[in-house]
Amino acid sequence: MKNTMKICMGSSCFARGNEENLRIAEDFAKANRLDVEIELFGLRCENKCEKGPVIIVNDVEHNGITPEKLEKLLTEMHSG
Ligand code: FES
Repeated sequence: MKNTMKICMGSSCFARGNEENLRIAEDFAKANRLDVEIELFGLRCENKCEKGPVIIVNDVEHNGITPEKLEKLLTEMHSG
């Protein structure tokens, strides 16, 4: 299955850590040959900024994504 990861790059999520998260996701995908399509969004936040940084994995929204949480999501994607 093709995985998709949508990373919010609105100013709030960007400042809360999604800039670093993007880098982590790209590095993980490269190092582990993970088949994931990374897309960036952020024009329509729908007031989720305070729950950010927001990352949507295969259409499931995840909030408050720290590097640790992100690595867990990536590992799960990798093994399943
Ligand atoms: S900046 Fe990401 S939800 Fe608003």
